[in-house]
Formats: sequence, C-alpha cells, structure tokens
Amino acid sequence: MNTLTKRMLLCCIAILCLSNLMAQAQEHVNGQLWMDTEGNHINAHGGNIIKYKKNYYWYGENRPYNGFTTEKGVGVYSSKDLKTWKNEGIVLPVSEEAGHDIERGCIMERPKVVYNKKTKKFVMLFHLELKGRGYEAARVGFAVSDSPTGPFKFIRSTRINANIWPFDMSEQDIEAAKKTDASQWKDWWTPEWRAEVNKGMYLWRDMAGGQMSRDMTVYIDDDGKAYHITSSQENLTLLVCELKDDYLGYTGKYNMIAPGGQNEAPCIFKKDGTYWLICSGCTGWAPNEARMFTSKSIWGPWKQLPSPFVGTATGYRNMPANKTFGGQGTYILNNVADYPIFMADIWNSRHLSQSMHLWLPINFDENGVPVIKWADNPW
Ligand code: GAL
Repeated sequence: MNTLTKRMLLCCIAILCLSNLMAQAQEHVNGQLWMDTEGNHINAHGGNIIKYKKNYYWYGENRPYNGFTTEKGVGVYSSKDLKTWKNEGIVLPVSEEAGHDIERGCIMERPKVVYNKKTKKFVMLFHLELKGRGYEAARVGFAVSDSPTGPFKFIRSTRINANIWPFDMSEQDIEAAKKTDASQWKDWWTPEWRAEVNKGMYLWRDMAGGQMSRDMTVYIDDDGKAYHITSSQENLTLLVCELKDDYLGYTGKYNMIAPGGQNEAPCIFKKDGTYWLICSGCTGWAPNEARMFTSKSIWGPWKQLPSPFVGTATGYRNMPANKTFGGQGTYILNNVADYPIFMADIWNSRHLSQSMHLWLPINFDENGVPVIKWADNPW
C-alpha cells in the first residue's frame, strides 16, 4: 500500500469512527443526557415543539450550569426526525439594558411557540419573572418572529385580564369574592384560609392589577383559536384564557380549572373531541405525582382522574409512578406518531442546564383513558 492509499484509508476509518460516535451521541434514552449534533446536552427545558414545513423546532429555556436566573434567553433546536437535533442558537436573547423586562438575570420559563396561520408569524409566550424580584412578578411575556429560528422580538410582559371576571362566574360568586381580603391571611393552609381561597380571594386581590401567570402552556384548537393555560392565584388555580386572533393578547374571555387545586406544569392534548390535561403538583424542582383532568370543552367542566402514570422507571433510579418517574411535564407532542408523546424535564436543581429530558408514549386503556408507562424512549 502506498502512503497516499494508507492516508486515505486512515482518513476513512477516522470519519467512520466519528460518525459512529455522533450517531451514538444522538441516541436519546430517557434518564440520560441527550446530545445535539455537536455533542452538547440539549439545553432546552420547559419548552415545546412545533413542526413548520419539513422541520421540527424545539424551543426551551437555555439554563446556566450554575444559578437559577436566565443568562442567555430562549433557545431553539431543529430536527427532521425528532431524534437528531441541531442547535440553532438563542432566538429570544435577554436584554443588556438595565430595567428592561427581560434584562439578563430575569427568569424566563416554559416558553411555548405557536405559528399563527393568519398573520404568518411565530408567536412566543413565556413565564417571566423580573430581575431581582424572585417569583413575585408572575407575568406572561409575548414575543414574535417571522421565522421559526428567530430572532424573536420581545413585545411586552403583563399580568392577565385586569378588571375582568371569569365569564362563567355568577353574580353571587363575584359578590362573595369581593368580600374576601387576602391581606388578612398571614397563615396559609388553614381550613379558614382554604375557604376564602375557594371564594376567589386571590382572584379578587389581583383584579385591578391583573391575574398572576406562572407555569403555562399554549394550546391551539382545531379551529385555530389559541388558549393560554396558566398557573395563577399563587399557583393555586389554573386559568384558561382565550387569545386574540393574532395570539398577541387576550380577548378577555377566561375561566378557572380546579380552583384551589394547586396545579402546575400544564400539558394538554385533544383526542376524538376530548381534552386531556396533565399537570404536576407544586414542589418546585422536586418531582411529585401528576394530576389528570378531562373535559369535552376547553371551558370545562373538568373532571379530575387519577394520575395516568403507572409502574416504575426501570431505566431511571426506579423512580415510581407517583413521582412522575422523576419528571415534570412540559408539553404533549401530538400528531407525530400513532400516539401522543408526553415531554417532561427531569430537573437538576444544582445544575439546571444538565436537567434531563423524558419523553414517553401516551397509551389508552380500554375506556380510552391515558396511561403512561416507563419506556427507554418514546418510539
Ligand atoms: C417548578 C416550575 C418550574 C420552576 C420551578 C422553580 O414548580 O414548574 O417551571 O418555576 O418550580 O422552583
């Protein structure tokens, strides 16, 4: 063999080894870190996936290795097969301007991007906490882009539906809520406090300034109408809020799901005309038992069912079903397989950027009720 042939052979072997390594790196197994095409862990948490033309786009929180605040912004990865993900960078960067709503050091969580067929714009809603104010701002942020890979233009951040009552609340219930006074209740979780919460104490407290909005998702129904579903009232009650046709603001029509039920991380899908909502409880980064609700209409009434999770996570520390296998939902990816896929984060609270991904197939029992079992991957 002459030197040139030898060199070419070595080159071929090197390329083969490298591509083999890359292929291995992209094999995504639940309970392990998932790599992008450059061999870095996919740092997209609390987000969602959309399909546009031939590509999938996975949006999510870009989290730092240390600390809890947002240092970069919301990022996106692209894929043709939902398995190989290319980092397309930060699509909504934090601002370097002091006092800006999304100033570096704020907290941007649970971004959801949807495509508006009418305006042909990509719209992002996300949970925003202002810099240096912990989780007290409880706002929703809006951003818009002409392209799935950004740049997204930040529009505004706001609380929700100030001075508007839920459309289905009776005059009598409104009057009862107006008699509550949140400032009187220093001790939470007592039966008396609970009774006041059920009367709509926090709804009334926030009436003038607008309702709180933290963990959230956006759902586009078959008719193109969009709904922002969000944890409000000190994370005690979920709100379903109809968005305007351009998805950039609210129509003012909204109502509550499971008042006082303390549901976070809402994920929703529809099957054969029935809506299914899977949420978590409120234990911060620590996993807890999922909750499931179902309704024939987006406006309810919602009926609560047991958690859909069953069995044990054999591939991940044997985490039990009543801890959602260690994860917390972020989105339900529908219409990409014969079944919906539940997407979750396994949070690493010490190093948020290292939080793992958990994608599981949603199956249905003989009554058509969702069941989620552990699997190494959703395929
Ligand atoms: C979780 C929530 C996350 C994040 C975290 C902060 O309950 O789902 O999005 O806000 O709390 O502790």
